[in-house]
Amino acid sequence: MSCTVQFEPSGTAVEIEPGRTLLEAAREAEIPLPAACGGRGYCGKCRARVVGGPLSSVTPREKEALTGTLLADGWRLACQCKVTGSVTAETLQVRDSAKGDLALGEMPGLAAAEAAGPRLHTGAREPLGCAVDLGTTNIAMYLYRMTDGALLGASGAGNPQSSWGADIITRLAFGARSAENGKKLQRVLVKSVNLMTAHGAAALGRSPADIGEMVVVGNSGMHHMFLDLPGAQLIRAPYLPATLDAMTLAARDLGISMGPGGCVYMPPLVGGFVGSDLLAVALSTGMDRQRGVRLAIDIGTNTEVLLSVDGALHCCSTASGPALEGAALRYGSLAEPGAIERMWIDDPAGGLSFRTVGDRPANGICGSGIIDALGCMRRLGEISRTGLMRPGSSRVQADPGGDNRFVLARATSLGADLTVSQSEIRALQLAKGAIRAGIDTLLAIHGLDAGRIDQVTVAGTFGAHIAIESAMEIGLLPRIPLDRIRQVGNAAGAGAALMLLSREERARAEALCRSITHVELSLQPGFRRRFAHAQWFPEESA
Ligand code: FES
Repeated sequence: MSCTVQFEPSGTAVEIEPGRTLLEAAREAEIPLPAACGGRGYCGKCRARVVGGPLSSVTPREKEALTGTLLADGWRLACQCKVTGSVTAETLQVRDSAKGDLALGEMPGLAAAEAAGPRLHTGAREPLGCAVDLGTTNIAMYLYRMTDGALLGASGAGNPQSSWGADIITRLAFGARSAENGKKLQRVLVKSVNLMTAHGAAALGRSPADIGEMVVVGNSGMHHMFLDLPGAQLIRAPYLPATLDAMTLAARDLGISMGPGGCVYMPPLVGGFVGSDLLAVALSTGMDRQRGVRLAIDIGTNTEVLLSVDGALHCCSTASGPALEGAALRYGSLAEPGAIERMWIDDPAGGLSFRTVGDRPANGICGSGIIDALGCMRRLGEISRTGLMRPGSSRVQADPGGDNRFVLARATSLGADLTVSQSEIRALQLAKGAIRAGIDTLLAIHGLDAGRIDQVTVAGTFGAHIAIESAMEIGLLPRIPLDRIRQVGNAAGAGAALMLLSREERARAEALCRSITHVELSLQPGFRRRFAHAQWFPEESA
């Protein structure tokens, strides 16, 4: 006999056989529930609060992950607990963010677009337009008034596909296994975009029916999954997208809730995993129109790197993974209240101080905090150049399984010390090494070294919050004068907005796309050596 599992607050219910996990039920119900470790019980991300109904007993992994009062409050790891009767569970839902959390990059072309008046016509009295940045981990959405190009609102949400794994290859492989899987991955994206536009429009006293046009940018994997295009060839060399072409599609065919005749513009892809998000960064930064050596980095689960040498553009995509953003770490967190966002050394004896989001008691650490933490550990000599923790350190907790943990903050509101393990440091080294190897490889194509860079633009919401000194300390960014580095916020979102608001900018983007040379890193001579080297920490930090 099957059991009913109901998820709140959406009220979605599914029937499932007893003995299957709550995570399987959530997937069945298409409820977005992060599962960075793919359901193996390590990441602690798949938390759900059970408000009624029987489940299997708490496992040792749950006891380890759900410290403090979490277990007593009914929280469980959805991948670990099995349904034994009808259950009601609350899950983390798509969140809305204030405008300030999703600051857009500069939009140099916008003034001209606005001055020219609306170029996209819809049936609504005061039509709205929507720019969407479909990230591997997060989705950002911006609502515009099309008559004058005014930004009216912005919201962010976790990418619901995280339930199928943190990395895009795992998701594409899942989607490639059957037509139904591909449709499922598309449906959860469409549901989230619809939810976000509904919230955003409601906050303005409007409805999704007032939206006439939408522009969606993303890496090639997200693009393909949003359109349910075949993705199997994207995960095998030579990593070919099914199409690179720009498309304008009827919203109703995609299941996107918009006004009658509403359409969705998908800008062209650059090549391989480099999609329209990088194109949007190139458009909004205008690097092709500037002289000198300029670098743009959009840091995320997939990090895109763009190099301009006197306007000639080369780009690559690096699989940096979710670790730098705080995901896939036991105590990793989004930049939510209580997450450690800054860390520094406050006395010569090695005391660490930190600041949390909202000055709340520490309950996790987000990406900017993790980068600071690694920088501090390195400066204190607590980790070696190769990333090994210092034997005998008073801050290292021995782990019976061999994965020792370094204490970043003692006795936090989690009811436990907040730590980072040796294997997590290794994952962080892989992530920062992948990005740095991408930068160094693009420079090497032109025979340049980092000292020749005139300007680095760090794009993306995550990039906007990192401490540049710490990023240099750990070798994520090359060590160059600080005044050559600028952090601009969501440049991909800004580029999407430009393409939404201006036909000229849209045409310019399509031409620009054809001029960008895509570099497949794995085929570049010396890439493996650079990647191995970039995983170490820089010498001068010791
Ligand atoms: S998916 Fe459950 S702990 Fe990672």
